[in-house]
Amino acid sequence: MALLVHLPGIDQSPWVEGFRRALEPYPVYGMNEDIPYANVRYLFAWKPAPDIFSKLPNLKAIFSLGAGVDALLSHPSLPDVPIVRFVDEEMTQSMSDYVIAQVTMHHRLISRYQAHQRAKIWTQLYPPPATAIAVGIMGLGVLGEDAARKLKMLGFAVNGWSRSPKSLDGVESFSGQDSFADFLAATDILVNLLPLTETTRGILNMTTFKGLRRGKLPGGPVVVNAARGAHQVEADLAAALADGTLGAASLDVFEVEPLSQQSPLWALENCYITPHIAAVSNDANGVRYFSEMLMAHERGEPLTNLVDQKRGY
Ligand code: NDP
Ligand code: OXD
Repeated sequence: MALLVHLPGIDQSPWVEGFRRALEPYPVYGMNEDIPYANVRYLFAWKPAPDIFSKLPNLKAIFSLGAGVDALLSHPSLPDVPIVRFVDEEMTQSMSDYVIAQVTMHHRLISRYQAHQRAKIWTQLYPPPATAIAVGIMGLGVLGEDAARKLKMLGFAVNGWSRSPKSLDGVESFSGQDSFADFLAATDILVNLLPLTETTRGILNMTTFKGLRRGKLPGGPVVVNAARGAHQVEADLAAALADGTLGAASLDVFEVEPLSQQSPLWALENCYITPHIAAVSNDANGVRYFSEMLMAHERGEPLTNLVDQKRGY
């Protein structure tokens, strides 16, 4: 029995050392070590290498470094074992911090006033109160629900769109494909916190942008994407930001990361780019969470926060 930490492209040392301390004497291996593959019962992974699963005949469960499991689920040789995803209060708080920062920045027309400042223009244009602005959150799961509650407390009208209907105090619930157009038509600032699945891929496209409400937010509707780059059609985003279909966008994720130097998004003044930092997985919290999960499972207890592999999240 053993845990294998498998994080290609990421510094594995805090995780390997943390798991060794937390699980002692349970064996923990990192990449590039002499790994007894047949002993590995648990794999802690992010973007697994193509050949990793063929080496692990006795795998019992996969632990996902990230909250999003799209990279795991698209692995061509994924074995039929449970996948536990990372759910963490600090990550949830960080995501809400990011969402609130972007929403309030756009609501208060910061991009417009930055441009005016550069051009030394003094033109008063009063943003409407938060109560007149509707934030629409796509995905009302762990992250979307927290952001929705906090935005509501700041005074915004909040709409949520999910697969199944929700009942959250003060949040208007839209569910399913049939209600998507109504959800967009009632939304000034669209926040994406969906998982990436075959149904949600490319959902941030020109048709979606054109469906958003106009006339409430001076400058036009806004998109905030903190979920996955493949949710957005970047050519449509660039066109919508340039032709006024969108007033502004905040993007934390991109079709290809790092974002190419050739991307037109870099140069758009109304596009706010961050390099996939909205909510990072904290190693101390992650080690505690997955170590407890592993030990409980070894005692015969069930795994929690499991991914529904058919649903895709
Ligand atoms: P959850 O699985 O908890 O929530 C997903 C939500 O999306 C649920 O409300 C679900 O509906 C809804 N949903 C799924 N498919 C559809 C669909 N086809 N139509 C409408 N609604 C749908 O995920 P989390 O909140 O934990 O995370 C969301 C995503 O955020 C992750 O998958 C990841 O990609 C991204 N992320 C990005 C980070 C960053 O740093 N940029 C950090 C962490 C996560 P229902 O409730 O009905 O099931
Ligand atoms: C995640 C991420 O899914 O950081 O956790 O993107």
